[in-house]
Amino acid sequence: MFRHDIIIVGGGLAGLRAALSVRSADVAVISKVHPLRSHSIAAQGGINAVLGSNDNWEDHAFDTVKGSDYLADQDAVEVLCKEAPVRVIEMENWGTLFSRTEDGRIAQRPFGGAGFPRTVYAQDRTGHHLLHTMYEQALRKDVKFYNEWLITRLVVDKRRCGGVTGYNMSNGNVEGFQAKAVIFATGGYGRIYRHSTNSVINTGSGCAVAYRAGASLEDMEFVQFHPTTLYSTNILITEGARGEGGYLVNKDGERFMQRYSPHQLDLAPRDIVARAIQTEINEGRGFEGGYVHLELRHLGAEKIQERLPGIRQIAIDFANIDPVEKPIPVRPGQHYSMGGIASNKNCETSISGFYACGECSCISVHGANRLGGNSLLETLVFGKISGENAEKFANSSLFGDTESIDRAIEEEKKKISGLLERKAGEEFFKIRDELKTILDEKAGIFRKEEDLTIALEKITELKIRYGNVYVRNKGTIFNQELVNAIELEGMLDVAQAICTGAKARNESRGSHFRIDYPVRDDTNWLKHTLITFAPDGARIDYKSVNLKMFAPKPREY
Ligand code: FUM
Repeated sequence: MFRHDIIIVGGGLAGLRAALSVRSADVAVISKVHPLRSHSIAAQGGINAVLGSNDNWEDHAFDTVKGSDYLADQDAVEVLCKEAPVRVIEMENWGTLFSRTEDGRIAQRPFGGAGFPRTVYAQDRTGHHLLHTMYEQALRKDVKFYNEWLITRLVVDKRRCGGVTGYNMSNGNVEGFQAKAVIFATGGYGRIYRHSTNSVINTGSGCAVAYRAGASLEDMEFVQFHPTTLYSTNILITEGARGEGGYLVNKDGERFMQRYSPHQLDLAPRDIVARAIQTEINEGRGFEGGYVHLELRHLGAEKIQERLPGIRQIAIDFANIDPVEKPIPVRPGQHYSMGGIASNKNCETSISGFYACGECSCISVHGANRLGGNSLLETLVFGKISGENAEKFANSSLFGDTESIDRAIEEEKKKISGLLERKAGEEFFKIRDELKTILDEKAGIFRKEEDLTIALEKITELKIRYGNVYVRNKGTIFNQELVNAIELEGMLDVAQAICTGAKARNESRGSHFRIDYPVRDDTNWLKHTLITFAPDGARIDYKSVNLKMFAPKPREY
């Protein structure tokens, strides 16, 4: 058994930032992939922070809360926005090469839903630059890494977390990690949908493991669909493209955002732009196959190459289209999980010694809809806070006994050998494909009760069929089929939590749009959803929203 004061699961920006804030305790990071392959690397457009004297944190907070459709907890938003400048400058001091203005200051671009151009960027590869810097700092600090481990269980005894169990993908061993405190920074669950900008590693495994251990999942019904993903592959085409002056047109050549958001046009918040594009497609004003055009040609080759080289290359490589010469075909795709492991602004969960930060958490700074540029920020701000608080906790605690971890190891070993020993049954990918289809079709941008009922029935059926899953590959070394089969169980749990929350929420708010309840209903639904694991499904509860600064108003753009 391995033993560290603090175990951090997840090697992306949030996990690494958490590790860097631990000063006097022994810390280790466990990651499913090499940290530089974490999904943070895929972030393109930028990170929000108030840097100049013409902007202020209160405006950033207001934009964030309004963008969230008033569901964000405003005490947490205050922390996010006040801390933003310090965290961004810290990254610059550590070596991140942000794009500059002519006179050498850090450049900022306009982003959706923001009243001021406050998105700091490094061309359109901001996540790439931040993650490399952060990883260098982790190496400098000699952080211990366990790469290519899948965490299968959060070990909890009497509501106190004592460690995790993990499956070592390189040799097939199941081992225990004892810890005084555990932080999950495991990212989102985008890959439960078919059309997603997310890496294939984003299966929601952290959320699922925490859920099975008794942590509640909060606001899971709020799934973000990014308006502009490349038609065919759903690779992200950054909002920064519209921030630089790009615009959307339908097949009639109309700049249709004028009809949906007369003031902010193409830079309305994502939920609004994604619904607008989908409406154009659904009503026959999209191009054959279901997409619209993102027009960048008027920006000119020089600006495109200077500010947006990444998406230009993506369009060339994956669609054979050079945006200097032709518009990019785009459509909405799943992009981000506003919901996650219920956590407060100190990153504490309902389980003692267990913390969450980054996309797997719901703190909740994004409420019903996240503004672009606020997720990279969340990783830095709450990564740091989670590390500091886990350290305080670890320094005043003792290791628990190892019995519960030993028991968990044995149970996990049995479960995995059960999958390997089964000689026939269901193949994981058939169940996974059906799950993706049902979520795309019934729990996407537009929802209704009837569809969500069908989705929930289907998920129940898939859960039963999962009981008969088997794997053909019986090997122990990098058995990806086995890893996929293990993760599928969690994907089904996460999908059930999303659809349960979505079916119950009889209103439309942010990314959750119910065509049978198209209006926001603050009287009945200004509250967070909590889903807790129960043997017969998912138990649902609610909790109030912190409205410290801004009273809810109609959301006009
Ligand atoms: O469009 C983008 O570059 C995405 C940014 C974000 O999700 O924050």
